Amino acid sequence: MLFATLQRRAVDSIKRHALVMSLRSPRAQTGILTEYLWGEEGAESSALQKTAAAEATPPWLGKLIGRQLEDEARHAQLLKTRLAALGAPTDLGPPPVLAKAKLWWLERACAPYQYVFSAGPIVVMLAVAAQLESTGVRVFGRHLSVLEEHAADDPLAETVRSILADEKRHAKSCAAAVEKLVHTHELDALAELRERIAQVDRAFGITIALGYWVLVASRALRDRAGGAS
Ligand SMILES: [Fe+2]
Ligand SMILES: [Fe+2]
Repeated sequence: MLFATLQRRAVDSIKRHALVMSLRSPRAQTGILTEYLWGEEGAESSALQKTAAAEATPPWLGKLIGRQLEDEARHAQLLKTRLAALGAPTDLGPPPVLAKAKLWWLERACAPYQYVFSAGPIVVMLAVAAQLESTGVRVFGRHLSVLEEHAADDPLAETVRSILADEKRHAKSCAAAVEKLVHTHELDALAELRERIAQVDRAFGITIALGYWVLVASRALRDRAGGAS
């Protein structure tokens, strides 16, 4: 547990440092916002869409996911507006390699749990969605705190604040929905599943943070060097 705490702190420090470097660097901000856009239109939305498309999705859950998908589309639009203001392309490029690898490992780690719960594979999909939403809370919460501390007048702060408020709600409602679907005698299996998901998250944490730092640092340096490409 101590190691997990140290890992989490290391990831947070590396990413905070990268965010501070990105301030007033349009290239670095473009890199960060493009990664967020991929998260909104790619990872978060596809986890929710898979859940909505699963067999035996109860109507209450279908409604909840429908509302969340509308929020994700709004987040993507907000990010595209910021990207356009930076003069950057707003189309969704290929997913970041490490994020794609993490999703692949998540699927693999969760595969043995597909038919463990009486509600079916939907529990696993929703548990993954809950994890992605809580990652979103950490990511946007960190970014907002850096902006508030160093650049409160940056228009990005309002965008990030608005997305963060939704992600907090999503993380809570996905976690509550998982618990509603799971019977009392399945709670141990749910705890195991959540631990597997958290392990994958931790395993990629520092590597993803370093990749993020290099991306931001190289772009910020290019801007500082006077725009040479
Ligand atoms: Fe989102
Ligand atoms: Fe979300």
